[in-house]
Amino acid sequence: MLEQDVLDEVTNPFPGLAALQEQTPAVRVRTPDGPPAWLVTRYADVRDLLRDDTRLSVDPDHGAGEDYAGFELPPQLRPHLLAVDAAQHDRLRELISSPFTGTGLHRTVEVVEAEAHRLVAALAPDQPVDLVAELAFPLALTAVRAVLPLPDPAHQAFAEWAHDALLAPRRQEDGAEVRARDTLGRMAEIIQTATTVPGDGLLGELQAAYHHGRLSAHELAAQVFYLLFVPTEPLVDAFGVVLLRLLAGTRHRAVLRDSPAARHVAVAEALRFDTPQGLAAPRFALVDLDIDGVRVRAGQTLLLSLAAANRDPRQFDDPDELVLTRSPNPHLALGRGDHACPATALSYQLLSSSVAALLSRYPSTTVVPEKTQWRGNFRHRGPASVWADLKP
Ligand code: HEM
Repeated sequence: MLEQDVLDEVTNPFPGLAALQEQTPAVRVRTPDGPPAWLVTRYADVRDLLRDDTRLSVDPDHGAGEDYAGFELPPQLRPHLLAVDAAQHDRLRELISSPFTGTGLHRTVEVVEAEAHRLVAALAPDQPVDLVAELAFPLALTAVRAVLPLPDPAHQAFAEWAHDALLAPRRQEDGAEVRARDTLGRMAEIIQTATTVPGDGLLGELQAAYHHGRLSAHELAAQVFYLLFVPTEPLVDAFGVVLLRLLAGTRHRAVLRDSPAARHVAVAEALRFDTPQGLAAPRFALVDLDIDGVRVRAGQTLLLSLAAANRDPRQFDDPDELVLTRSPNPHLALGRGDHACPATALSYQLLSSSVAALLSRYPSTTVVPEKTQWRGNFRHRGPASVWADLKP
């Protein structure tokens, strides 16, 4: 059994993951949370297992024995999208789709784009600016609110939770304590308000589905939980890595400012290179499996390393090089298969618009990647700050 070091490494996890990837397709690890699991690192295995809903389940009830089963959640938050399979998953996925498709998607993007321009206009250009605090964090909150509009008191409480849980620990040593403090209690209050006070947009749609019997009370609370509290962190980290990587070089600057298509390609590469959500949600084997000769027993847990897969030399030429024009780029940073991120199209547009807003006002902005400190844990990773000199 491998101890947890490779999973704990945040500054540069890639050499450790590459060594494992070279040695074996799947290795038994002790997770930082304690219990063991299988870590799968090769691109083809990770991609195929993400799509395998016949032999794998995301429902922790299918876990058995001593293996890692993910966060322990109270019963009313358990039936979220990434913990249910098959027909229940299809029904929930359909019910949350409106902000991610068609006119709903346009509206969400418009709100966040306007906020990106407003935030950039408010930056002070005569001193170095931390783009994580000034852009990534507020834009992530705006995006989550545009997806799931909360009544005002609940939004205020959510913004405070996000600040304490995500932003404050980037700046102080005792971050873990702040982060852990009463998190579930605060979440429960916010969810209680969000599910009981009549809401607009997707929140109103989910409340209506509950009143019409198409969603149980637990399913309503669990979707609100998942759409609010889970995406905020990968989104902050994704804004951070995209701003860091796209603004670091000078070679493609004018193209990135003027061409949405070039920005899309570059955003994909930043997501591949720095994969903000490094691990998929736990998968539980429904039957005994053979992963290229490694035997996994029914009930055991698989951790699929999106970060390792995205640096696999079997799939990507020069995987440790950041190539902002890399195309095609079949990275797995937003998942694959039935549980792939429903906000994929939205995320690309939001990430791209943050760079466009900054470059349209300050076209010669520079950032220094070498100064970056990384933060995170074995599930996610992003820059604690991205210092920029804003230049017109
Ligand atoms: C760019 C930032 C984001 C990243 C890196 C990201 C990453 C991912 C990944 C990797 C998955 C698949 C996990 C798995 O298969 O185990 C996923 C699923 C999901 N994401 Fe995102 N995500 C992002 C933004 C968002 C946003 C903005 C939302 C909504 C507000 C969102 C909501 C979800 C939901 C609900 C699922 C579960 C889908 C399902 O099980 O059917 N994500 N995300």
